[in-house]
Amino acid sequence: MAVILTGGDGYVGWPTALRMASELDERVVAVDDLSRRRWVEECGSVSAVPVAPPGERTAAAKERYGNLSFVAGDLTDRDFVKSLMDIYEPSAVVHLAAQPSAPYSQINGERALDTQTGNVSMTLNLLWALREAGLENSHFVETTTMGVYGAPEFPVPEGEFEVEYRGGRDTIPYPAMAGSWYHMTKTMDAANMRLANRQWGQPCSDLRTAIVYGTETEETRGSDTLKTRFDFDYYFGTVVNRFCAQAVAGYPVTVYGKGEQRKPMISLEDTVQSTVNAVTAGAPGGVEVYNQATRPIAIVELADTIAEVGTEFDLDVEVKHFENPREEKEEHEMVVENDRFTKLLGEQRQDLEEGVRDVLGTLVRYGDALRGHEDRFLPGVLKGQS
Ligand SMILES: NC(=O)c1ccc[n+]([C@@H]2O[C@H](COP(=O)([O-])OP(=O)(O)OC[C@H]3O[C@@H](n4cnc5c(N)ncnc54)[C@H](O)[C@@H]3O)[C@@H](O)[C@H]2O)c1
Repeated sequence: MAVILTGGDGYVGWPTALRMASELDERVVAVDDLSRRRWVEECGSVSAVPVAPPGERTAAAKERYGNLSFVAGDLTDRDFVKSLMDIYEPSAVVHLAAQPSAPYSQINGERALDTQTGNVSMTLNLLWALREAGLENSHFVETTTMGVYGAPEFPVPEGEFEVEYRGGRDTIPYPAMAGSWYHMTKTMDAANMRLANRQWGQPCSDLRTAIVYGTETEETRGSDTLKTRFDFDYYFGTVVNRFCAQAVAGYPVTVYGKGEQRKPMISLEDTVQSTVNAVTAGAPGGVEVYNQATRPIAIVELADTIAEVGTEFDLDVEVKHFENPREEKEEHEMVVENDRFTKLLGEQRQDLEEGVRDVLGTLVRYGDALRGHEDRFLPGVLKGQS
């Protein structure tokens, strides 16, 4: 028996593959087409932490864990996905592959289309390939995103909520309130998981992932070959990671607008562990939704935490407010219900302050790479385009 992990070359996917190999008895098959490496290059940037080629790091991981393999392939290709199911007959598919950047999906119509067709077709291919291989009982786990909720003026429920309308009452899935072409793909994936469950009973876990921060997990520490990527550019660097990179590069930490909007966040370590826990918890009866977030935090509070922890690394961090290039409510509270997720995670392994300390501690080794690409912190043109 095997577990297939898609997006296994990615920021979250690679350390998840390592944790799975370490905690599961089954064979772990990581699948990826390396498009994230290409997209970041296209944006004129690099991973601050150098990442080994997939063959090299898989060989190093195999030496340690024995049960991890890597398959290169494009998950939008239906035949490839069908062959994966026929060959490995997975008991679970953990789906992390995606074009995961909202700003990248917003660059132009071409990238919006590529993001939507790519992301939605990968999920559809996987769900249907499970069905067509007779694997309707295998557990399908996907990291969607907290971004599917938008920014409502009420607490965000864990997936569904009760509605009363004109005398009738029902429980309905949260509506498609996502605010980018990327986030909308995850709304569609969430709806398609429900449909697969309703039509043929596929058990699904929908992890609505918050903004992930961090550089290391237990398995990546102490080995340069096993490191995961770390992006800091405008398109692919998520906010905590990008701010920490700015602090190390001696560049002002760029808060968009007032920065009082609170965003749900989670460390890489807790993301990896809870994703593996979703697999070991076994397949649910229906579709289980988890708000994979440990805490919402205001963007200014985040910048101030980085400035404070930065002093431990002799960093003199300047926090600057820039005009917001995004359409968002700058004072939004974002209250998130996450009782189901808290039970799934168990003990939180890394809070924000520890996470920031960890990231800064790693990045001070790579200051030159950051300073050499500091023009990538803010929106810019793609390589080859004026
Ligand atoms: N990092 C975050 O803050 C965050 C937040 C919310 C949700 N998520 C979700 O978690 C998942 C992992 O995110 P990440 O930050 O590791 O992103 P990532 O880009 O590092 O990982 C995704 C991987 O999918 C691969 N991929 C893309 N298209 C593919 C295709 N057609 N075939 C095969 N592989 C393909 C990419 O090469 C990449 O390695 C994504 O689904 C993302 O949407 C991430």
